[in-house]
Amino acid sequence: MEADRHQESSCPASGSLLDFRSLDPYAFYAQQRRESAVTWDAGMDAWLVLSHELCTLVERDEDLFAAAYAHHDGSDEIRGRRSLLTLTGREHRRLHDFFSGALSAKAIERTCAAIRRTINAQLDQLAPLGRAELDKDFAERVPIAVIAEVLGLPATDEEALCRCREAMVVLLAWFESGGAVPELVERARSAIRTLEDVIRPVALERREQPKDDLISKLWEFGPMQYQDWDETDVVDQCKVILQAGSVTTQDLLCSLVYRVLMDDPLRERILDDTNAVPLLVEETLRRENPVQLRMRVANADTELGGKHIRGGDRLYVVNAAANRDPARYERPDELDLDRPGIYSHLAFNVGPRLCVGRWLARLEATEAVPAILARLPRLRLDPDSAPPRFQQWMFRAYRPLHVVFDA
Ligand code: HEM
Repeated sequence: MEADRHQESSCPASGSLLDFRSLDPYAFYAQQRRESAVTWDAGMDAWLVLSHELCTLVERDEDLFAAAYAHHDGSDEIRGRRSLLTLTGREHRRLHDFFSGALSAKAIERTCAAIRRTINAQLDQLAPLGRAELDKDFAERVPIAVIAEVLGLPATDEEALCRCREAMVVLLAWFESGGAVPELVERARSAIRTLEDVIRPVALERREQPKDDLISKLWEFGPMQYQDWDETDVVDQCKVILQAGSVTTQDLLCSLVYRVLMDDPLRERILDDTNAVPLLVEETLRRENPVQLRMRVANADTELGGKHIRGGDRLYVVNAAANRDPARYERPDELDLDRPGIYSHLAFNVGPRLCVGRWLARLEATEAVPAILARLPRLRLDPDSAPPRFQQWMFRAYRPLHVVFDA
């Protein structure tokens, strides 16, 4: 497909997903899945779960397949004592339900004007220039500013946002390493303090003077649920939301822009029909899957896909592979806006860890694509700059996005 022509060889280099940091992993996923929906990856010292059916099963059954992010070195300080990512069972459910309500499709409708403002403020800066790198100049900036707005942080304080963006890069590297690199643990501890410094003054202020924002809602919710709820709990929730929502949405925006740039008929269709934009967002989530895989740990011996899994074994649910499972999707490698069951992808997980920010991410992406095309006329890749590639590992997107357009 033309859209993938910038990618390096996607031939599997070896038997481990670890070797695919700079290579398109989809041929590897398909090859592994043809052998078995559950395969052992010796390089990762873990099972890879590769089919739609079994990823769904593992994600739904948290009693058997636990989300074990609390085991990462540095997790206590970096995540905090009541973090959605590390809590389990009823405690997790309680916070999850709060965020699901606070960030529901209905609740975030109110942020639409702020999202448009943020997108346009960024495009105002780029429009006169005639060229940009849309990852760094747009995709990295918009999600974090939107989340700041939702939380009630100073969304126009560019200096603070810049510090947060830098912290995010370090935290992402720590997370992808699973806490296994001591130097990254130290750097992540320092990065998290950067986020805390930005959030804490606002958290304290909102306790006294609530406003219409998520930090104020956390002050309403927390003390009703926990006697010892304090500003550290509020700060910890904000840290999770900032981290979980920024890089993921950045990656989605990058892959969307790349897709539109590489496919003229697709660009025509979404320019002609705004109803097609949300469909493009869903198909890009399915096909490029910003969060390729997530880790789980088996709590007991069990069978999965005909393999014997021992209690304590690590598993990666490879949602990106599940989203191109031919048993679930016809022509899974093709982007097809008219695909039946277009919302059935696993880009946001399913089960108890279903992404609570999915409606916000969708809204941002749906607003961003037409705005970019309208504000940056004759947008195209810069033929004189490095082409985009489907880079990184657990979190992935097409980047860099050097583009030119009519100023
Ligand atoms: C395209 C954008 C996004 C993608 C692809 C994405 C994907 C995911 C995935 C796969 C999970 C499951 C994690 C796991 O099982 O270990 C998740 C969880 C989560 N996401 Fe997102 N996400 C996105 C945007 C957002 C945004 C914008 C926010 C916040 C505003 C957010 C907040 C969260 C939170 C708090 C969790 C943890 C939920 C829980 O454990 O209960 N995400 N996300």
